Amino acid sequence: MTKLFITFEGPEGSGKTSVIKHVKRYLTTHHINSIITREPGGIKISEAIRDIILDKNNTEMDAHTEALLFAASRSQHFHEKIVPELEKGTLILCDRFLDSSLAYQGYARNLGIDKVLSINKFGIGDHLPDLTIFIDVPPEVGLKRVFANQRETDRLDLETLAFHKKVYEGYQLLAKRFPKRIKIVDGTQSKKAVIADTIELIKPYL
Ligand code: TYD
Repeated sequence: MTKLFITFEGPEGSGKTSVIKHVKRYLTTHHINSIITREPGGIKISEAIRDIILDKNNTEMDAHTEALLFAASRSQHFHEKIVPELEKGTLILCDRFLDSSLAYQGYARNLGIDKVLSINKFGIGDHLPDLTIFIDVPPEVGLKRVFANQRETDRLDLETLAFHKKVYEGYQLLAKRFPKRIKIVDGTQSKKAVIADTIELIKPYL
């Protein structure tokens, strides 16, 4: 039974969603039962909250409201899906989690990392992922990829480059603050190398 909670973090266009799919394939070939889930979202209530947060028309959304909505979405996702799956022994691969809120709302939106941590603690208690993979891609590179791929953009993609630079700085601060939990992968390498490095970091936990 592999009771492991792994999260994937990174700026826009870091390629984490595709890396996660490859990790899942690796786990399946090694007979390890895993699921992929994502934030904000993963279940009905949290997906509904996601639609409100990312709606490009909601330009008037206050930063505090945004942080609370992410925390509410996370709390529901955590209690309804993550905890029961972990109890069953499923390995969880989660596309974004708490560190996204700490980097985007706490640091880039200037609400304060500790304040955002405390509203999240109200929702999920002291639970943290066992391992967090940070796919390190500078914001200029990531955003270029987002617009080149013509993936549909959302309210947060449309923030300024200065905002995305702050998100990136926020992640670097978090990696320094939680060095045991947050492991960094160089996301500017070839896709194959990014996947290989990620799997190497996960192996010791299996
Ligand atoms: P998503 O389409 O999932 O983006 P990506 O493919 O980059 O993961 O949109 C999620 C957006 O929400 C993304 O811009 C990051 C942001 N976000 C926060 O600001 N705070 C959070 O707590 C989470 C989970 C996401």
